[in-house]
Amino acid sequence: MSYVAIKHLHVTCAALSGSLFLLRGIWMLRDSPALQQRWVRIAPHLIDTLLLASALIMVYWSAQYPFAQNWLTAKVVALLAYIALGTIALKRGKTRAVRIGAFSGAVLVFAYIVGVALTRQATVVG
Ligand code: HEM
Repeated sequence: MSYVAIKHLHVTCAALSGSLFLLRGIWMLRDSPALQQRWVRIAPHLIDTLLLASALIMVYWSAQYPFAQNWLTAKVVALLAYIALGTIALKRGKTRAVRIGAFSGAVLVFAYIVGVALTRQATVVG
């Protein structure tokens, strides 16, 4: 598989991951039972595994490593924040206010990750 193909896979998984997270967030806000569907509980794990695996392959092939390249370090740290906020928003948040706050934070962090990806600058100012 070529680098470009892996990059396409990565970007596709990023778009799917973000869209599915938004959808699950909307279902959470509406207290919808749709959130508990089997595929909704499984698909994010598959997509996020592919997202991360493709990221690691590109990191290895391009020999640009997190903690050497600032923008990659920023992506890894922001990804951890996105996962933590996402878990609070969809699972662990005890009150509705906490879940909504965490959901908003996760959406902002996701937008930041896309900004870093496109500009290759941790400060997202090109
Ligand atoms: C939610 C998480 C992530 C999202 C939304 C995301 C999004 C993107 C997008 C949109 C691109 C394409 C940029 C372009 O068109 O030039 C990209 C490229 C890339 N991403 Fe990610 N990414 C995520 C996580 C990661 C992580 C954790 C790493 C590293 C450990 C990573 C490493 C890379 C690399 C190496 C490229 C290729 C840059 C290039 O060669 O042009 N990504 N990412």
